[in-house]
Amino acid sequence: MARFRLRHIAFCALLVLALYHFLPHEDALPTLLSTQRVAPNGGTHALGKYMNDPKHIPHIVAVASSFAWNTVKMAYPPPLTPKLPPPVTTRPRIQHDFSKDSRARSSVQEQRRREVKRVFEKNWASYKAHAWMKDALKPISARPVDQFSGWAATLVDSLDTLWMMGMRDEFYEAVAAVATIDFGNSTSATVNTFETCIRYLGGLLAAYDLSGHEVLRRKAVEVGDLLYAGFNTENNMPVDFIGFKLAKTGEALPVEETVVSASPGTITLEFSRLSQVTGDSKYYAAVSHVMDVFHEHQNETQLPGMWPMTVSMKRRDVVSGYQFTVAGNADSLYEYLPKAHALLGSTDASSAKYEAMSRAFMDTAMENLFFRPMVPGNEDILISGNCDVLDDGPRLDPESEHLTCFIGGLFALGGRLFENKEYLETGARLALGCAYAYESFPTGVMPERYNMVICPDRQNCKWDEEIWATESAKRKEYLERLPKGFTTAKDPRYILRPEAIESIFVLWRVTGNNEFREIAWQMFQAVASATETEIANAAISDVSVVGSEKIDYMESFWMAETLKYFYLVFADPELISLDDFVLNTEAHPFKLSKPAMPAS
Ligand SMILES: *[C@@H]1O[C@H](CO)[C@@H](O)[C@H](O)[C@H]1NC(C)=O
Ligand SMILES: *[C@@H]1O[C@H](CO)[C@@H](O)[C@H](O)[C@H]1NC(C)=O
Repeated sequence: MARFRLRHIAFCALLVLALYHFLPHEDALPTLLSTQRVAPNGGTHALGKYMNDPKHIPHIVAVASSFAWNTVKMAYPPPLTPKLPPPVTTRPRIQHDFSKDSRARSSVQEQRRREVKRVFEKNWASYKAHAWMKDALKPISARPVDQFSGWAATLVDSLDTLWMMGMRDEFYEAVAAVATIDFGNSTSATVNTFETCIRYLGGLLAAYDLSGHEVLRRKAVEVGDLLYAGFNTENNMPVDFIGFKLAKTGEALPVEETVVSASPGTITLEFSRLSQVTGDSKYYAAVSHVMDVFHEHQNETQLPGMWPMTVSMKRRDVVSGYQFTVAGNADSLYEYLPKAHALLGSTDASSAKYEAMSRAFMDTAMENLFFRPMVPGNEDILISGNCDVLDDGPRLDPESEHLTCFIGGLFALGGRLFENKEYLETGARLALGCAYAYESFPTGVMPERYNMVICPDRQNCKWDEEIWATESAKRKEYLERLPKGFTTAKDPRYILRPEAIESIFVLWRVTGNNEFREIAWQMFQAVASATETEIANAAISDVSVVGSEKIDYMESFWMAETLKYFYLVFADPELISLDDFVLNTEAHPFKLSKPAMPAS
């Protein structure tokens, strides 16, 4: 045996030498011998080999912004502790243990993946042609528009989607453009802390995590230091809007009287990741003190476990207020609690609060916010409503909106993170609730805001047309053409939002149940056809009318989030595995410090 093998190896070696001699060398035959020219449809690692191949990366150097935000002499510098917690060493498994699709099924998914990519490519080409380096493209008039300080929001927001779709030339062309963004100048006098954090800082950090390109890290630090200047206030709570000129002087910024709770509550992931990639704890320390305020008072509100929709950072008051919701204005405050736990773990006191806050909020939301709607087919689904706490106690209002649809995915993630089956099952029902709303409307897309009827009995819910008619009659917004079960479509638009497909994506990755891919495909076809314009995709004014009028409006989250989630549903489940990344509220993946343990 041994001798045979030796002879065999010697023969192969000779053969290779001979081939090497006779074949033309690499430069002469690039398509045959050089690295793959077409992006693989594989996991993050396989795609990384293609996208981050040094041979194909042009030389790009960051141009420093016209103002160095790290040189501001702050009147009230934020405290520099606590220090960043040590890396997480063990994590529960998040994703389903996938086995390979059958050949027939995999070719269907492959066609779907390509179709999503085709739509993205069309949008990207139009952005490039008509709105390059501007914040957004108007999808009907083909005009550019600046809405977030003019730092090319759509471009920065789309970087990681370009990477995931294997659009290598376009990705590095965009990185070269990022290198020239001037965070020392702004088209608006005030900078929106929340949007700048989730779109710009989040977009740059994720693109850096995927590509490792230094330009992206440099620019992330610049915009991170600009946001850090927003903590230069008497009590070190962040401002909602940063006065651009004043912030440069280092004088104290005035904290607003009241703000929506999502605004100060949606900085944790970006600032923690920035501390991780720079090794400088200052960003983590600054935001940790903000979250301490939420933590300390979580059980003292009118609805213990949750915080009112508006809070006062000026007075550090997160308890006065009676309206509670996971919809707009509050949403990502809650989203970031389990996700901060995923990124930071619970190894010390400063990071342990995220797990405690997550569990308390999830239990309260399950009890007070979610309801089973009464629908003609008696489907066992959940919808997230609003809760007002008045003199007679908590009252659930069965009004919901598209923005709440992230909550199903978040509960599924929480179910895995905290090994809690009830969270996971609740998450699945919530995700299916949004899918139900999509398929109920004639366009196949759900409205921005709507009302339904609460089932009196969650276990044993029977459709009762009379109750529905009575409830509908009470609503002045009721329209005859609404699907049965809905009593209003208060805001009938669809503005290209991602939250419903976001939850379907998470449920697919967590459960591996193919039904979620089929739902995603139905949703994609409906959304793509209802919103398509000559050059891109546009918001529509009424989802209850087929062929609804379009609005000349396309936010950067369409390419950053909605199309990305659709794409990831049909791509290899190891691409941006939820065991390797946690996604910020703008769908930007941040690398987790340690891979998952093997499936049990
Ligand atoms: C800032 O931008 C404005 C236009 O938006 C431009 O006129 C001005 O020169 C820029 N300033 C700097 C320092 O680049
Ligand atoms: C709030 O209450 C929950 C249980 O309902 C508890 O686990 C948590 O520690 C409490 N939080 C604080 C800050 O006391």
